[in-house]
Amino acid sequence: MIGRLNHVGIATPDVEKEAANWARIYGAIDAEAAFDLPEQGVRVKFVNLPNGQLELIQPLGDNSPITKFLAKNPAGGQHHICFEVPDIIEARDAMIERGAKVLGNGEPRIGAHGVPVIFIHPANSGGVLVELMQEPEGH
Ligand code: CO
Repeated sequence: MIGRLNHVGIATPDVEKEAANWARIYGAIDAEAAFDLPEQGVRVKFVNLPNGQLELIQPLGDNSPITKFLAKNPAGGQHHICFEVPDIIEARDAMIERGAKVLGNGEPRIGAHGVPVIFIHPANSGGVLVELMQEPEGH
């Protein structure tokens, strides 16, 4: 079973500009320092909320998974939502058993929170790309 909603991923050409835009439009935001995640091909900037996070992501490198998304949505847009699961391997196997399509080679990768993640094809979830992440320690 999926757990807590952890974050909403928003693709943007520039995480700093987008964070500044959110601050301008919504008032003060608790934004963290941006960092590169070369294995995932993205630069990430988290905005902390009382009950979760926004994950601003911009392409990094030539084979970024969000380059195509931004080609279709040049100004950026909502890219994925992420739920926590207690055990990523168990969750992956259960998803496959239920007929879901796990993206990539099916092996979890280390995501922006330093814990393993997988992505589920949007066709399995009403057109929404879903990220499942192993619950961080201490939750
Ligand atoms: Co994410």
